Amino acid sequence: MARAMARPAPKSFHVKSFGCQMNVYDGARMAELMQAQGMVEAGADTADLVLLNTCHIREKAAEKVYSDIGRLAKRASGKPMIAVAGCVAQAEGAEIPKRARAVDLVVGPQAYHRLPGLIADAAAGRPAVDTDMPVLSKFDALPGRSGGSPSAFLTVQEGCDKFCTYCVVPYTRGAEVSRPWAAVMDEARALVDGGARELTLLGQNVNAWTGEDEAGRPQGLDGLIRALDRLPGLARIRYMTSHPNDMADGLIAAHGDVESLMPFLHLPVQSGSDRILRAMNRAHDVASYLRLIDRVRAVRPDIAVSGDYIVGFPGETDADFEGTMDAVRAVGHAMAYSFKYSPRTGTPAATMADQIAPEVMDERLQRLQALLGAQQLAFNRATIGRTCDVLIERAGKLPGQKLGKSPWLQSVLIDGGEIGDLVEVEVVAAGPQSMHGQRAQRAAA
Ligand code: 5AD
Ligand code: SF4
Repeated sequence: MARAMARPAPKSFHVKSFGCQMNVYDGARMAELMQAQGMVEAGADTADLVLLNTCHIREKAAEKVYSDIGRLAKRASGKPMIAVAGCVAQAEGAEIPKRARAVDLVVGPQAYHRLPGLIADAAAGRPAVDTDMPVLSKFDALPGRSGGSPSAFLTVQEGCDKFCTYCVVPYTRGAEVSRPWAAVMDEARALVDGGARELTLLGQNVNAWTGEDEAGRPQGLDGLIRALDRLPGLARIRYMTSHPNDMADGLIAAHGDVESLMPFLHLPVQSGSDRILRAMNRAHDVASYLRLIDRVRAVRPDIAVSGDYIVGFPGETDADFEGTMDAVRAVGHAMAYSFKYSPRTGTPAATMADQIAPEVMDERLQRLQALLGAQQLAFNRATIGRTCDVLIERAGKLPGQKLGKSPWLQSVLIDGGEIGDLVEVEVVAAGPQSMHGQRAQRAAA
């Protein structure tokens, strides 16, 4: 490790999370863990310990951590203890302190309940690398939730068994595991008691969640959602991210009759070419994906459909890419994420023939993003004149202004209101990224 010298135990910490919402959740839980040890939160410029909670999904995301480490090593107020957590920690482990000697501690996403011991090791100058994937769930070893924000994340499922040929997640997050029903319900209650009015259930394959309810009956994600719907004080439920092959009939039905389940579905298809989907090992085709979207829309016509797309997967021809553009047109997204394919060491696609030239990827991504941007703007504009509930999450930039979310997960700026309020708003203007709303006379229940 970087130094074999003992140093004072850190009294303050700063967590910086990259990547997906699960990292945001993990970052919050690591912060709670350090707070439970008596450490206090501080800015990145002054904290005794800076924890970089990293993402390994694409090369760009993974490389960011090394530039951050470099900056922290030369920090004006002195080098902090540097901890690397998350998926880069899992993938690169003990290689990280070899490459970046300023790093004091490395902890993987399934081992972070051991952070206090690792911090003590690092302070004592002992090696502090833990990338185990213990069978005992880290969740059982973490302190209870305190909550605080109106919209909270709750991890209900972790890991992935799908092994899409481009993706590192099955290697960094491990096999699919569902948290038990009672653990999820307890955490949900604690978050609602702490002020949460909206919960987003998280999982790499959240719709693959399975468990048993209090009566021992087998349940899927829809059963969990229906139970959460009955939780007093909880107004909104969301879930993310889903795989088309786990979109069970019951979950589709829930979109039609569970009022607190928000009309938003993040359901990645990745490509609009069946040939590429096969090479990606996605185990679904474009037509089956479009049928799923139709079925969800049949029970919830206003649902906002989000997704993920990869351009430039090995072997992607112009015709394959046009297939993706056609699929996007057929879906009509409220929003979607799109990425250039990034080869990841150890994944099957990294060694496939016909890797696509960067300039071809650039051109395809630009065209796809122009189309998705136009769809997002059209979706937002279609909301103008509608009245909907907005959950106020934080202060806006202007005095008195607040920022909240519509049922369709759009950002809405409004004048007045308190953080945590659910207010009825008429949408009066819409841009590509956010909308403006005017509060209706009557506050929503
Ligand atoms: N290159 C580009 N995008 C990727 N994703 C996953 N792995 C890669 C990769 N190697 C995208 C997928 C996934 C999202 C979280 O990231 O679209 O759904
Ligand atoms: Fe990665 Fe595919 Fe699993 Fe999603 S379903 S996490 S893209 S392997």
